[in-house]
Order: sequence, then C-alpha cells, then structure tokens
Amino acid sequence: MRVSLSEAYRLLHSGHVVAVPTETVYGLAAGLERPGAIDQIFSLKKRPANNPLIIHAADVSQISPFLAAYPEDFALLARNFWPGPLTLILEANQKVPPQVRAGLPTAAFRIPQHSLTRALLEWIGPLVMPSANLSGKPSATKIEHVEHDFGEKFPVLDGGACGCGLESTILIFREGAWQIARQGALPPDAFYSTLGYLPNIISQSSQEPICPGQKYKHYAPETHLILSKQASQCSTVVLGYNDRNYPLAKKIYFLGQTSRPDQVAEKLYATLRELDRDSIQEATVDVDVPDIGLWKTILERLSKASDRSG
Ligand code: TXA
Ligand code: MG
Repeated sequence: MRVSLSEAYRLLHSGHVVAVPTETVYGLAAGLERPGAIDQIFSLKKRPANNPLIIHAADVSQISPFLAAYPEDFALLARNFWPGPLTLILEANQKVPPQVRAGLPTAAFRIPQHSLTRALLEWIGPLVMPSANLSGKPSATKIEHVEHDFGEKFPVLDGGACGCGLESTILIFREGAWQIARQGALPPDAFYSTLGYLPNIISQSSQEPICPGQKYKHYAPETHLILSKQASQCSTVVLGYNDRNYPLAKKIYFLGQTSRPDQVAEKLYATLRELDRDSIQEATVDVDVPDIGLWKTILERLSKASDRSG
C-alpha cells in the first residue's frame, strides 16, 4: 500500500515498520529507538537476530552522537561518497541499541541519496533499515517486490524503481586500511582517488565473516541458476545480454547491454524475481563478462544466488 511522506512519518513515529526507497534497494525502516518495531523487522524478514542492521541518517551530524572513534580518512570518505551507496562500519558507543548491532562493538552507518528518504530522515532522525526482502531472497528494487514479499497492505513510501539496483558497498577500517566487507554499488576503483589505494575485498569464505549477514544464503530465487561462460550454446532458459545471441535458448531474459553493467545491476534482482514469477525451474546465466568494476559485484551476487548449499 503506497503511503505519502507524511503518512510514512506518522507510522514510523508511532512505532510501525515502513518500507522506504533508497538509491540502492528498498529498505524496511524502523525508528532507532523503537525496539518493538525493530523486533518486527527481524520477524517480518525471518532474519537471524545475530545479523545487525544498518543505521541510515540524513547527514554526519545525525551519526556523530553514536560514534566512539573516527578512523583515518573517515571525513574524506564521508565528504566524497555521502549521500550515496556507501556503508561504513564504525566503532559505536552505547547509544546504539544492542538489538541493532547484534551485540558487536561496531555499527554500520549510511547516508542514502534518494531524495524522498533524505527528506524523511531529516524530519524523523536516524532509521535502521535492512533490505526490504525476505532473508535469503533477492532484494526489492520496485514497490511490487516489497508487496510480493510482505503483502499488498504493507506500507511502502513510493519512490519508484531504485536506480543502482545493488546494495551499498560496505567498508571497514582494519589493519591500517579500509577494506571491503561487502561488495556493492561502488566498485573498489571508485575509492582509489580518495584513499590513494584500492581497498582490498575481504574474503567471505570463512565461517565468521566480517559482515555476519554474509554467512547466510543470499539473493537466491527458487529457480536453480547455472552460471556459464558458454550460455550461447545452451538450450535452457537463459539470462543474457541484449547485444548477444542465444540461438538455442528455450526462452531469454535480457539483463541489458554488455557495455552497460550499470543497467544490468539495475535489472538484476527484478529479473531473478521474474524467474520465480514465471515458475522457471532452471536457468543458465551468461557470466562471460569481465571480472572488473561493477561486474565484480554482479558476479558475486550471481554466485551467491546460484549457491544451493545454504
Ligand atoms: O544498500 C543497502 O545497504 C541496503 C539499503 C536498504 O540501504 N541495506 C542493506 O541492508 O543491504 P542489509 O541488512 O540487507 O545488509 C546489511 C549488511 C548485513 O550483511 C549485515 O551483516 C552487515 O550489513 N552489518 C550491519 N552492521 C554490521 C556491523 N556492525 N559489522 C559488520 N557487518 C554489519
Ligand atoms: Mg539484505
């Protein structure tokens, strides 16, 4: 159910959960000081309680009261990438509720760019916001996706389709440098001119990843996805690119042009959701793309989406 900015404010203010748009994906929002609503976020999403939430704010002055320390180059990153699809994991003080940080000494912070959400945050103050999807499933980049997962009556602030289509990049300062704890809408090279180095991507293969959420199944449709560099030879359903041919394919879902990974990113989750809508059992995804820039994030999401082990 679409709600206006003032209705979203009223609902959040009275302790309800509301879905709100961001430039990356839709989020499920609750007031930072509303433990009942935060509990509801975990139960609505079926999210394990040990997976902490990102605190979204309108500006750095809304974040500062929660910080115990400022790591090197924090101000530079904040100035160059906020508002935008960057989340920073920072040492937090006791003002961040344990429920939000899942008992960790740190908390995650982001200043989103979407104009409606910024207006809401300026008005109401910081909101916690995980992605507005059932845990393990593809994120929501359109209102219909939120309604599919949480029902048509669920209140959603209508911000149209999300432009980036992939979640924010998460950085953490460790061992003297910023490192990527979750790949996202900003590829590593986006940080080079600000930091003077390429942040290392932390391997998530360990049992205890830096972002607790990374150990869970993610982004996966019901459809069994097979990643292939020879998709043009496949006779299955294919997820491919508008500038390529798949002569044997049973059906083709187009993700965009190979020259435009930004378009592919924007369509990715919507396309994964279409596979489920169309009850496709199995699909081959064309992954014959360069493992650089935004493609790196797209390939990481596809790899997780195709993982049947979780
Ligand atoms: O683009 C985004 O980041 C979206 C929009 C709505 O802002 N949000 C989002 O939230 O992707 P979520 O909850 O789906 O993913 C947040 C990730 C999880 O993997 C969680 O484990 C990690 O951030 N995280 C949160 N707080 C953390 C902390 N203190 N230390 C390490 N990881 C943290
Ligand atoms: Mg998520």
